[in-house]
Amino acid sequence: MALLDVENLGLSFAGLQVIKELSFSVDEGSIASLIGPNGAGKTSVFNCLTGFYKPNSGEILFNGRPITRKRPYKITRRGMARTFQNLRLFKSMSVLENVMSGMHCRTRSGPLGAILRTGSQRREEAEIKEFCEFCLDFVGILGEKDRTASNLPYGHQRRVEWARALATKPKLLLLDEPAAGLNFDEKQQLIELIKRIREELKITILLIEHDMGLVMKVSEMITVIDYGQKIAQGSAEEVQNNPRVIEAYLGREEDEVV
Ligand SMILES: Nc1ncnc2c1ncn2[C@@H]1O[C@H](COP(=O)(O)OP(=O)(O)OP(=O)(O)O)[C@@H](O)[C@H]1O
Ligand SMILES: [Mg+2]
Repeated sequence: MALLDVENLGLSFAGLQVIKELSFSVDEGSIASLIGPNGAGKTSVFNCLTGFYKPNSGEILFNGRPITRKRPYKITRRGMARTFQNLRLFKSMSVLENVMSGMHCRTRSGPLGAILRTGSQRREEAEIKEFCEFCLDFVGILGEKDRTASNLPYGHQRRVEWARALATKPKLLLLDEPAAGLNFDEKQQLIELIKRIREELKITILLIEHDMGLVMKVSEMITVIDYGQKIAQGSAEEVQNNPRVIEAYLGREEDEVV
């Protein structure tokens, strides 16, 4: 069953068509990837899925219900979480506070509860803290929970983002270039983590990634876009041997060399 269904998505900025009639779906429980050359429109797709951009046309169904043009917090509450291509941490807050900041969509007590600090409010806070610590442990940095986020090495700052996304208890996790800036060992650990997120937490994953080795190792289904349009879809092997994909990547590389 498709957890995410994107149908004929279209997005333009000032007349420039960034996404064109894009359709693809992500099966529940799968690890899928969205790949394509720089500027192909991958992050823009994530921005449409999560409500940051409003598409001009098309429909996005999540868990069988339309979420097209809904606000980001509503989409998060429905069970979609993301990480960003560029780190977006609260630099002066602790690691744990950063992760807890992702949980607002799941809190029940309203502002009155926060002021009165009722029993249920305190219980809820304790539950949130416990779950955030679980998420930090899951990504392997629980020992750093009280450190200021900006003092962590880059690879660990990325893990804080992953923990923050997991803390929202998503059904679908969108990762935008999670391997960017990671060293070889960290990439191997990321591969394991992606698999564990799916196996142990039962979370479906959609990945944008330029590291083809990583994409090919984890993805069951790959959608390739170029200039906002789908040019191929299939397994790692199918996509790797697709002439349109090879041309899209090589063509762009030649442009860069010139
Ligand atoms: N807010 C915006 N306003 C105007 N143009 C935009 C905006 N967001 C994206 N674009 C344009 O849309 C196109 C696709 O950008 P996008 O960031 O989605 O590509 P990408 O595939 O994620 O690239 P990369 O691999 O470099 O991250 C680019 O031409 C970009 O300039
Ligand atoms: Mg991008």
